[in-house]
Amino acid sequence: MNKFSFITVITTISLFFFASCDSTKGSTDGDNQADVTGNVSIEDAHSFSNTNQIRTTHIDLELDVNFDNKTIYGVARHTMEHLKDTDTAIFDINGPEIQKVTLGKKGHEKETDFIIGTKKEFIGQPLSIKIDKNTQYINIYYKTTEDAGALDWLDPSLTAGKKHPYLYTQGQAILTRTWIPVQGTPANRITYSADVTVPKDLMALMSASNPKKRSEDGKYHFEMRQPIPVYLIALAVGNLEYRSLGKNCGVYSEPEMVGKAAWEFVDLNKMITAAESLYGPYKWDQYDVIVLPYSFPFGGMENPRLTFASPTLLAGDRSAVSVIAHELAHSWSGNLVTNATWDDFWLNEGFTVYFENRIMEELYGKETADMLALIEFQELEVELDEFMKNGQEEDTHLKLSLNGRNPDDGMTDIAYVKGAFFLKTLERDFGRRRFDKFLKGYFEDHQFQTLTTEQFKKYLIEKLIKPNNIKFNVDAWLYEPGLPKNCISITSPRFEKIQDLADQFAAGKDIFKQPKKKKGKKREPALARDQYTPQEWQVFIRQLPKKMDPARLALIDEKLDFKNWGNAEVATEWFCLSIRSGYKDPRPQIKKMLMKTGRRKFIWPIYEEFYAAKGEDLQWALAVYKEARKNYHPVAVGSMDETLHYKP
Ligand code: BES
Ligand code: ZN
Repeated sequence: MNKFSFITVITTISLFFFASCDSTKGSTDGDNQADVTGNVSIEDAHSFSNTNQIRTTHIDLELDVNFDNKTIYGVARHTMEHLKDTDTAIFDINGPEIQKVTLGKKGHEKETDFIIGTKKEFIGQPLSIKIDKNTQYINIYYKTTEDAGALDWLDPSLTAGKKHPYLYTQGQAILTRTWIPVQGTPANRITYSADVTVPKDLMALMSASNPKKRSEDGKYHFEMRQPIPVYLIALAVGNLEYRSLGKNCGVYSEPEMVGKAAWEFVDLNKMITAAESLYGPYKWDQYDVIVLPYSFPFGGMENPRLTFASPTLLAGDRSAVSVIAHELAHSWSGNLVTNATWDDFWLNEGFTVYFENRIMEELYGKETADMLALIEFQELEVELDEFMKNGQEEDTHLKLSLNGRNPDDGMTDIAYVKGAFFLKTLERDFGRRRFDKFLKGYFEDHQFQTLTTEQFKKYLIEKLIKPNNIKFNVDAWLYEPGLPKNCISITSPRFEKIQDLADQFAAGKDIFKQPKKKKGKKREPALARDQYTPQEWQVFIRQLPKKMDPARLALIDEKLDFKNWGNAEVATEWFCLSIRSGYKDPRPQIKKMLMKTGRRKFIWPIYEEFYAAKGEDLQWALAVYKEARKNYHPVAVGSMDETLHYKP
């Protein structure tokens, strides 16, 4: 690198820093216009990239997946579009080791200078590449390192089959840059193709066109023709099998689980039909689900064409399928219309939770949908209380301000549930017919684009509020703390009944005694688990006092055996109450769960309870964590280390 070019690059970087990165982020005005490609020019506090000057439109990936040294050797060939004059293209990296950078079409390449800037917490480093005004192709040669926070490399012992290793990626929110050099803002959309080489006995899948069978030579080609934000690039490699569940949908998993998965998700086709009838055609051709190993840190992740799902969804009773409805709904809210920055995350998740509930209502009726919504609402209330107690009022706004923070901090019930209840409240005030028409138009008008909260607000006022001439406190919902007073209230008679039962038990009543026979009627059976759904039992546990006499909890386990229930949602609530109450019987089951599953929704509250319990409880949990930590995805490890104040 000559002195001159070095200085040029440094100047560009510092200019860019001053212009956007290190400056405190102000709120974006509503006038950011999306151009024809769906790219908007907005500030993103979580990306160094200069997409408003030059942006990637397409990436050709060449990936060689090596399980022996847990490394991906990659070339990312970016096709660029120039928007303004610049001599530098800036990408995001956080982990990959850059070997060289070339310009030009494959085979006609010339090496160019690049510089890697200072590391910033969470965000990583800017990779600034010297280009000229004719540069169309930038090729980045790299290999991944141990710091690839997106990658989970699993030894065979952590898979269902125990014979083959496994790899999967998790890109959201800003982890794609840990395994591919990209312009990491969700405001930019790209298409991609990939040539991937894996060991011959394994199959590779991506968030793209996918094979249904293993190839002979371990080579796979993928195409994603619809433009997506880079956080949706995803890869899974393992011993995989496919089962079709309809014309354009099906499920992949290890052969040991694929039958169970096909049974659990039998309604997939119906869900797609219901979703399409609500908000318009499915735009991604194929919809498959892959059930990953237990370490997957989420219930589901909406990678386009291929939802990644946790095996904890295979409850054996189809009681967790709302997560699939949720990930499917993201095919509209999130993947088709995307949050422009992570401060607008509620646009992805709030819409999706609302839409998920509508799909559940179509398939299973209003009573079920209302129960699911109420469960979530209870969680929102707890979280709101906590934020308010901790002086984190700002974190209860729908529009967030995550500058300088990990965007994952925005993954709270505010974005999810407050967001969904905002939409439910709009639906109540404007009527379902009008609101559905508005939403259908919203997806149609913004497909393959990204949106800020301000752009959404403008659209909402123009298309729904003004034409109907109804007052609505939009600003309070978007920019004020807590829950506005006009928030819709949902009730469930079935929950009221089970809450009453919990109150009776808490008051010392023997709820397990078989009721007396009533004249002329069959004798009712004694209370048993199968009389209520898992959601009702969840509400039962939540209704009990925060701490209870361990002997009373032991009675419930004796009669209802919650501690051995395969349904992880109920088990988690039960374990948390047990820890708070000093009821130690379920410890073997807790340990089993913590060793096996890495889904954050379950392990996080359990570790939190142990941390709060202190003393011997905490020591016990720390010993389990020490053993279990290696079984978790880096995303979960990060969160648990923080919660437990654990230093490896
Ligand atoms: N997109 C999210 C998962 C996510 C969000 C990963 C932010 C990383 C950063 C996914 O759609 C999701 O919300 N999953 C939920 C399930 C849902 C039913 C609430 C989960 O995994 O718990
Ligand atoms: Zn989601």
